[in-house]
Amino acid sequence: MINIKQFIATKNKFFNIFQLFGNWSPQPLFLLVHITLRCDNVCGYCYQLSDDYYKKYLAQDLSFDDFKKIVIDAKRNFFVMPKIHLFGGEPLINKDFSKMLEFATLNNVKLSFTTNGNLLNIFYKDIGSSSIEQINVSMNSLEDFYKIKTVQDIKRIKININFVLTDKNYKEIKKIVDFFEFEKANINVLSFQHAYFCKDKININVLKDQIFKIKNLKTRFKILFLPYIKVNDLEKYYNKELNNFSRNCNIPWLGLNIMPNLDVTPGGGVLGCNNVIGNLKKEKIKIIWNNKKIKIFRKNILKNGVCDKCLGCCHRQYY
Ligand SMILES: C[S@@+](CC[C@H](N)C(=O)[O-])C[C@H]1O[C@@H](n2cnc3c(N)ncnc32)[C@H](O)[C@@H]1O
Ligand code: SF4
Ligand code: SF4
Repeated sequence: MINIKQFIATKNKFFNIFQLFGNWSPQPLFLLVHITLRCDNVCGYCYQLSDDYYKKYLAQDLSFDDFKKIVIDAKRNFFVMPKIHLFGGEPLINKDFSKMLEFATLNNVKLSFTTNGNLLNIFYKDIGSSSIEQINVSMNSLEDFYKIKTVQDIKRIKININFVLTDKNYKEIKKIVDFFEFEKANINVLSFQHAYFCKDKININVLKDQIFKIKNLKTRFKILFLPYIKVNDLEKYYNKELNNFSRNCNIPWLGLNIMPNLDVTPGGGVLGCNNVIGNLKKEKIKIIWNNKKIKIFRKNILKNGVCDKCLGCCHRQYY
């Protein structure tokens, strides 16, 4: 079973093959579904808390009926059923989270989700009996380790741990790696994510030193930095000199993002992808997938590269 997060992070260019079709794409490989925009955490760096775009989606969670509609629509209308990735806000606080897992599992949908982990131990049994293949757990410090206590035991599920680098943790990359290794954590990927925009003071030399310290470590899990930025280019990334990197991105050829009110945007579901191209109350996924708006969006990327809002995105190709 491929670990999609790892594959997209490391073999992303493989999918550029989809761009050979021009502004058309055969079918979505994934649907990112924001099942709520509400959250039970307040992370200082969260892009959703600092962008008014998300506020209008706080009013309602995705209903179970609308979730069923998405699954059935995708199942009926595509040759290959797209994988569904549940997202938020915090997806586990949607009151129908368990029912969604059950329905998707009954329909043989390949499922994954991203969570802050607060409620993972509570949903352990529902997750264990579902078709979940992969869980991305976001952590802020090692104190969050208890959150994967139970799901670690579900051997078939790939667990990716993600730390957004902040001034509180970037000096501790080596310590974090050592901890997960010492605990023999049953995880597949430990990733450190450079924030889309960083208000924190990150000393690049200290960051480089931390990266150097873990470079040749042999660990049970894969270590990734997202997005992949060469060590010598870290200053440019953190100083927001982002124009000199490649400006390609293939995500709008690979998937769609769905918001709780069924608004649809291109697949990244963040930053420059926050551009409504349709709504599933009125149209089927298949129609939106190659409609006029998404074709213009893709054409712009082919012609001019991604827009300025995308410049710090973890999905963009920097090289
Ligand atoms: C918005 S959260 C939603 C899911 C869930 N609440 C969580 O935290 O995992 C999705 C991912 O975005 C990451 N994230 C939030 N703000 C970010 C930022 N400014 N730069 C990069 N990643 C960020 C989070 O760490 C998390 O891994
Ligand atoms: S838990 Fe996720 S959605 Fe909630 S504030 Fe943190 S990063 Fe944002
Ligand atoms: S780089 Fe831009 S187009 Fe690509 S996924 Fe990120 S926000 Fe979307």
